[in-house]
Amino acid sequence: MQAKKRYLLLGLSVGLLLLLYHVMSPSSPPADIPVLLLERGDETLFPSLRLSPQRSYVEAEDSRYDGDLHISARQRRAARVKSYTSKQCRMETCFDFSRCQSAAGFKVYVYPVDETEKISPIYEEILQALRNSRYYTSNSSEACLFFLAIDTLDRDKLSQNYVHDLGSKVTSLKLWNGGLNHIVFNLYAGTWPDYAEDDLGFDMGKAILAKASFSTSHYRQGFDISFPLFHKEHPFRGGEEGYLKSNNVPPTKPYTLVFKGKRYLTGIGSETRNSLYHIHNDQDIILLTTCRHGHGWQNVADERCEKDNFEYDK
Ligand SMILES: *[C@@H]1O[C@H](CO)[C@@H](O)[C@H](O)[C@H]1NC(C)=O
Repeated sequence: MQAKKRYLLLGLSVGLLLLLYHVMSPSSPPADIPVLLLERGDETLFPSLRLSPQRSYVEAEDSRYDGDLHISARQRRAARVKSYTSKQCRMETCFDFSRCQSAAGFKVYVYPVDETEKISPIYEEILQALRNSRYYTSNSSEACLFFLAIDTLDRDKLSQNYVHDLGSKVTSLKLWNGGLNHIVFNLYAGTWPDYAEDDLGFDMGKAILAKASFSTSHYRQGFDISFPLFHKEHPFRGGEEGYLKSNNVPPTKPYTLVFKGKRYLTGIGSETRNSLYHIHNDQDIILLTTCRHGHGWQNVADERCEKDNFEYDK
């Protein structure tokens, strides 16, 4: 925040100097005085600086930067350029279609599993499903799509399934090829309370992301895959018969909406879930939330927690 204020001050003083310069200079008629627009959140934070031939010391992005200031401005810019290029990925720019036109037809390749690497049971199931597919090939040279045998599902640093040094493990793969024609699965990214959606902790390059809880601001249209968030105990195949007996429209079910889960008292998503009790009516809309979450939830508990936890446990 300190740096942000300094940059803003700097920007303002440069702007004022320019204004003075324009007023004093006899060649410029008074009508030409540039108006200093200071619109926060606007891409053009200092439009008057754009007009001048001098290069601005502060970029619009810098004045908004709120993160770790131990990283130099140059590193920040480099990171931005990198994420910008992969953000632009589309099938036309980040995918090699020629790989999908082999005589073998459309084939998918799964990397061989390194026995020393831990893979969560749920990712093992995804890989198993791919290997059972009729599109599967063990011959990488005829493959169109590639799937990593390194578990990328859980990128929450606090999770026991978190894989360390993912970046170096991935780039050391001979077939990685900057992520070209790869599909990377992800269910969780970042950690509580800041679930950084775009932070998988490694450079995905040109890989396609199949991810749960995608937001429209990160989803690359026609390129990424929005993937359902499913439970660890989700059956691998089929499972028990469901309860749906008929497909009546409108449905004759007694419930319109049912939700049971954690409330998340603070952080991303908490605002929505903290409001759920408003629409709970104990008849056709049932919304049960618990305040219990990790350690120390009691410190942020509110007056509804006791009642909510009780209802949740019933
Ligand atoms: C793998 O596929 C390539 C291309 O179709 C083929 O030339 C090669 O013989 C295959 N290798 C094996 C071991 O089947």
